[in-house]
Amino acid sequence: MVEQDFICSDSFESTGIVEWNSPSNIALVKYWGKKQNQIPQNPSISFTLSKCYTNTVVEFKPKKNTQNEIYFTFDGKENQDFEKKVNAFIKSIDKYFGFLKNHDLYINSKNNFPHSSGIASSASSMSALASCLVDIESQITSNDNNFNLRKKSFISRLGSGSASRSIEGPVTLWGKTDAYKESSDLYAVNISNEVDKIFHDYNNTILIIDPGQKVISSSLGHELMNKNPFSKKRFEIAKNNIERLKDILQSGELDDFISITESEALMIHSLMLSSDPYYILMKPNTLEAIYKVLEFRRETKLHLSFTLDAGSNVHLLYPKSETEIITKFIDDELLTLCKSKSCIHDHLGNGATKNR
Ligand code: PMV
Repeated sequence: MVEQDFICSDSFESTGIVEWNSPSNIALVKYWGKKQNQIPQNPSISFTLSKCYTNTVVEFKPKKNTQNEIYFTFDGKENQDFEKKVNAFIKSIDKYFGFLKNHDLYINSKNNFPHSSGIASSASSMSALASCLVDIESQITSNDNNFNLRKKSFISRLGSGSASRSIEGPVTLWGKTDAYKESSDLYAVNISNEVDKIFHDYNNTILIIDPGQKVISSSLGHELMNKNPFSKKRFEIAKNNIERLKDILQSGELDDFISITESEALMIHSLMLSSDPYYILMKPNTLEAIYKVLEFRRETKLHLSFTLDAGSNVHLLYPKSETEIITKFIDDELLTLCKSKSCIHDHLGNGATKNR
């Protein structure tokens, strides 16, 4: 599918309400660096989570004035910063939704994970909003479910690249690669059918190391990749890692899975360290937790591994069959490294779901 396929000028005049939940996701091969229009420099693969999600309600009514209006609240309260961002985003995508020009929208969004947990909410919030908009549009179009899924991912991507991967699950791929025929730079595709069962109910425990504001936003991080001296090599390695990970996901080979995901996490942080200006998102306790995970694995031979996104939190990955011993280790050894001893025990899920 090409960009034009997602443009829709058909409209209608109606009143209604839709509500969707959409989860966060954690990348295995990371998206770090982009071209114009949120086109990724390399493909990425992620696990879709289930417990960390955004709930978004969109009510639509025929517009009251000549200009359509968008009203936004976060958790029932006014939030001017978020409202400005949502307004700008919706204006930027109006050619894809004919109904926007003659409706006012009343949007409320809330996260079920703590606001100050340091968990990136852009993936869950953008994919929840995109799900609502495409759902409204689907009331007048006869597009099939497959098209609607693609369009939800396409619209999510325009809000935040990684959000494109939250629409489906448990394992999705975004970005063109010869390794997967259906792949696209415009939207993510569900590759779960080509993934061994062991990964379908994999666990992801998020250690909340530091809930504070990040020193550098991910948009600036992507931008700094344009002049990073190692970026060309990074994009090559990431493309190659997608091909390697495809085989690993198919075979369920956990040792190879661990080495590729941990290497990806450390590599994107090495790119942050080598940016100009340089910046460090890991905290001392991020490294402390990583050391403990490596030591635990050496001693027990269990399949506990870590990954990181653009922040200091540590995402622990492990198979369901090893839950008991590993959660005991987390409680005994790792929670002391977390802010207020907090962590979130999540596992893989199937993407965005409709509530009404
Ligand atoms: O979607 P963005 O622009 O917030 O970028 C996300 C980047 C990482 O989380 C670091 C990696 C990824 O692929 O999710």
